[in-house]
Amino acid sequence: MMAVAEASQESLKQRLNVSGGHGLKGTLRVSGAKNSALVLMTASLLSSETVELTNIPSLTDIDGMSAILESLGVQVDRASDRIRLTAAELSGSAPPYELVNSLRASFFSIGPLLGRLGHARVPLPGGCRIGARPVIEHIRGLKALGAVVNVEHGIVSASVPGSRKRLSGAQIVLDCPSVGATETILMAAVLAEGVSTIENAAQEPEVQDLANLLNTMGARITGAGGPVITVEGVERLRGCSNYPVIPDRIEAGTFLMAAAITRSPLVVEPVIPEHLSAVLQKLRDCGCSIEINGRSVTITPGEIHAVDITTQPFPGFPTDLQAPFMALMCTAKGTSVISEKIYENRLQHVAELQRMGASIRLESSTAIVEGVAQLSAAPVTGTDLRAAAAMVLAGLSAKGITEVSGLKHLDRGYDDLEAKLSSVGAEVKRNIP
Ligand code: EPZ
Repeated sequence: MMAVAEASQESLKQRLNVSGGHGLKGTLRVSGAKNSALVLMTASLLSSETVELTNIPSLTDIDGMSAILESLGVQVDRASDRIRLTAAELSGSAPPYELVNSLRASFFSIGPLLGRLGHARVPLPGGCRIGARPVIEHIRGLKALGAVVNVEHGIVSASVPGSRKRLSGAQIVLDCPSVGATETILMAAVLAEGVSTIENAAQEPEVQDLANLLNTMGARITGAGGPVITVEGVERLRGCSNYPVIPDRIEAGTFLMAAAITRSPLVVEPVIPEHLSAVLQKLRDCGCSIEINGRSVTITPGEIHAVDITTQPFPGFPTDLQAPFMALMCTAKGTSVISEKIYENRLQHVAELQRMGASIRLESSTAIVEGVAQLSAAPVTGTDLRAAAAMVLAGLSAKGITEVSGLKHLDRGYDDLEAKLSSVGAEVKRNIP
């Protein structure tokens, strides 16, 4: 019986067969940013009018967020890369735990729910493979805005005490520049009474995109993208139409690294260059020439040599590109030191790369990568969304056919990766056993 159970379990596990050694040629198109689209969708909770977003990527996480918002009473209409969200009648119920647990961004909905309704109940998101991922900063900020917040039986309940329904503006200083906490607090503060400031705010482009959407809906936010954000609370927010989600800087960076690891000249677009400054600099430092024409980036790899990276909050080198860059450094000349400073457990792809012949030594949160002449294909697993992408990149360079499993992670953050890579000459096939 056990063998049958395992076999059926196995048959559910799709995998990508990546055959290495093919050069790439042409243009790779970048989709809308997952980590912006998800939070912009939760912002629709702040208005009773329809919010329409465009350039929405086709990802399982977007499906998951749509289901969560529908469970809250939001009407969701999706057509290709366009989504219309109408939160006219909210049910006030808590989104289901299993959905929230798999989709961290849904926890951020506690901010707009509290701002709009004066109360909210949202399951505490679990940790994940890359770290504990607490939400202490999110809760601290909501309390500073006047909410009473309790965490019981895995549910975070927040409410505005007494007869008031509105939060009160406050000065908030984050202990760490958390992206999610900045976004959650921002969405709670826009309908609060009075002025709020968020200091030590996250400066990621996705935070800026959220502030731009909220201002389009009638909010009064200044300073987003910098360390101090100021919000002047308003009574209500209107809807909006045709708001375009920014291009996905992490997908773009992954594609640039696919070009570098296969030593192929490639065009990647659209890219907002200032969203990738640290990454473009490291690609130049390791031997690639980078040409920028508006929102189009052309990368021409030379001989790739080792450079060091340390992941940091924006505008530093993004943690979400640490694994793909490590795959590239496995094929570089020389030794690179890769330090992961954002998450406590985001180096699990090291073991998978070692299976492909990479020479990597781990010292707590640092990987010392000695480049090798040639990686060799092997069956490997993507242990998180970005590690899965790193294994595909390693497969593009390795001798033989690399079987990458863990695609449920990959499909969360990359819109049809195999079709895009195949369109520029890679041999990547999804094997549904
Ligand atoms: C966002 O997660 C992204 N996800 C992550 O992308 C990204 O890695 C991360 O920002 C950092 O850039 C979405 O936007 C949906 P954080 P978020 O709160 O908001 C610690 C991907 O692959 N921290 O900025 O959860 C935390 O433990 C995903 O697309 C606290 O210590 O990230 C982590 O170590 C993965 N206390 C660090 O800060 C807190 O209260 C960054 O977390 C909150 C966070």
